[in-house]
Amino acid sequence: MSKNAQSEPETLILNPSAPLRGVVTVPGDKSISHRSVLFSALADGVSHVHGWLAAGDTEATLSCVQALGVKIERHDAHTLTVHGGKLQKPAAPLNFVNAGTGIRLAAGILAGQPFESTLDGSAQLRRRPMKRIIHPLQMMGANINAIDNRAPLHIKPAHLRGIRYALPVASAQVKSAVLLAGLFASNATMIEEPGPARDHTERMLAALGVDIVRDGRRIILNPGQTLHPIDITVPADFSSAAFLIVAATIVPDSAITITNVNLNPTRTGLLDVLLEMGADIEVLNESEQAGEPVGDIRVRHAALTGVEVGGETVVRMIDEFPVFMVAALCAEGQTIVRDAEELRVKETDRLAVMTQELSKLGAQITETPDGFHIVGVQSLVGAHVDGHDDHRVAMSLAVASLVAQGETILHDARCAADSFPGFYETLAQLGAQPVVGGENL
Ligand code: S3P
Repeated sequence: MSKNAQSEPETLILNPSAPLRGVVTVPGDKSISHRSVLFSALADGVSHVHGWLAAGDTEATLSCVQALGVKIERHDAHTLTVHGGKLQKPAAPLNFVNAGTGIRLAAGILAGQPFESTLDGSAQLRRRPMKRIIHPLQMMGANINAIDNRAPLHIKPAHLRGIRYALPVASAQVKSAVLLAGLFASNATMIEEPGPARDHTERMLAALGVDIVRDGRRIILNPGQTLHPIDITVPADFSSAAFLIVAATIVPDSAITITNVNLNPTRTGLLDVLLEMGADIEVLNESEQAGEPVGDIRVRHAALTGVEVGGETVVRMIDEFPVFMVAALCAEGQTIVRDAEELRVKETDRLAVMTQELSKLGAQITETPDGFHIVGVQSLVGAHVDGHDDHRVAMSLAVASLVAQGETILHDARCAADSFPGFYETLAQLGAQPVVGGENL
């Protein structure tokens, strides 16, 4: 259980769901919320953030930014005023709890500061690979030490120089760490990406007035500029909407609308794949917010057929594979996923953990080194399953339970609050009936 995730029940009982119906919003985008506090902390003045995601991961980042001497006024859970400026040496190690985005992006920023810092987190975060950021930051001249390339990361002041760096993996966190360090370097930084990793950092830095340009697969950032404050309204998180999109697709007679969701094309691979499988999804009311495309997503139940997923599409739906596995179990015929080995270094090894937990519900999944094969349609039967302190695993298992026969008991349900506080209430609002302690939510 994550330190900051307190609002969700530890254990939930879920039963086959009634049709899901209604119009809902989901919480603010996690990637954009992390960035909004980290970047506005560096700005020369006062920034305003609306619709901020108040969840386990982002609260951890916010506490770390405060520990760096940044004053943040909290008007309500989702509305912040950030007094940016110079960061200060933290009095104690920074605790990013489970937030991989928080620690990796902050490492890029702190590598360029004139003070020492230590970046740490939960046992789960300490298991995650950090060499992917330590290596390029050291190429830039950063002074970072970490035993076995894992957190805690010890950073000392160093003179940074810009580098030309071809990312070995399509990772927005690595790209962002290098770009952020590049802000404090003596010359330009150029990154070449192998695939379309989410580009929220580039969009937000440009909004802060940073000289950052894209040229095909290359991103070039010039250092030494003053960052201007921003006024940002965070759109809803597509990765949170994804659980409801799959749920409404697989539960018969469902028809839901999720409003004002971030539709950044580097994030919406799941939409393309579900549409290819025969899903009934429409995007309405498209507009722009915070420099990102947004729209409402209308989803109706539909029969799905199997699909093959690989290459760049994997990058554009990397966080959606746990719930996509559930969709694949409900699809007629064979689904094959390749090139998704990055799933093994997320909060958990999501290929192994999802295969293990869905098997408890009777699923037959062939796990491969870089993906899985599933032949559907498969019938699921309720059982005891466990969220493994991985928010996306817990929520995906809850979605699977909606189409399983009989009762599913979801243990470690609470970690959903790392990214989607109120997830189970939202399911209840749409017509599923999760039960906690004998009472409907
Ligand atoms: C994120 C980047 C992705 C994603 C994570 C959030 C970000 O990780 O899986 O949930 O906000 O930059 P990688 O950069 O490791 O692919």
